[in-house]
Amino acid sequence: MATNAAFPPYEMTTDAGEFEGIDIDTAKAIAEKLGLELQIDDMDFDAALLSVQQGKADIVMAGVTVTDERKAVMDFSDSYATGIQSIIVPEGSDITSPDDLAGKKIGTQRGTTGYIYCSDDFGDDAVVAYDDGLTAVQALNNGQVDAVVIDNAPAKEFVAANPGLVILDTSYAEEDYAIGLAKGSALEDAVNAALEELKADGTLQSIVDKYITA
Ligand code: ARG
Repeated sequence: MATNAAFPPYEMTTDAGEFEGIDIDTAKAIAEKLGLELQIDDMDFDAALLSVQQGKADIVMAGVTVTDERKAVMDFSDSYATGIQSIIVPEGSDITSPDDLAGKKIGTQRGTTGYIYCSDDFGDDAVVAYDDGLTAVQALNNGQVDAVVIDNAPAKEFVAANPGLVILDTSYAEEDYAIGLAKGSALEDAVNAALEELKADGTLQSIVDKYITA
């Protein structure tokens, strides 16, 4: 499994260097059901997407949004979660809606839908791509960008850890997360069958509840 373990609560790296999060526990549960050994490789998000396309990893689980562009180059399992692209700004910012991002500097994580949507809507020059979401949030704290566009779940965690930042009460895009596989992967049906069982028997919900407190 390829991932980018800097995307809480889906995948993160503990101080002890262990991987944990919703995707990590779900992948472990799937592997267990399939009688397979799970090996987790942590890398940049764009590299994780490429890794399955190049056959270096069997699956990518990294809060990956299903998009038509990605479907052209890889397969996806059934969806197991949803995400919302959220906008983080400093308290008191004049940015109060997605439209206000026009003419601003926007921080994103490289290769993510946040980057893709913002560069489509506001131009490549408006968008700064960082290695991970936390680096983008630090750039926002330092005033290097005016806003960060990132998935809602990590947005909540980053804002909780950074007083002075807020999440706008308006969503930029809604998305489905799924497991990415190589086109035509022989593993796809088995992964879907395992996911189905984990949804039906409540395992998936209990994993989500472990990491997201409402
Ligand atoms: N959902 C977004 C996308 O697919 C961002 C995912 C980033 N995931 C990560 N582990 N860094 O583009």
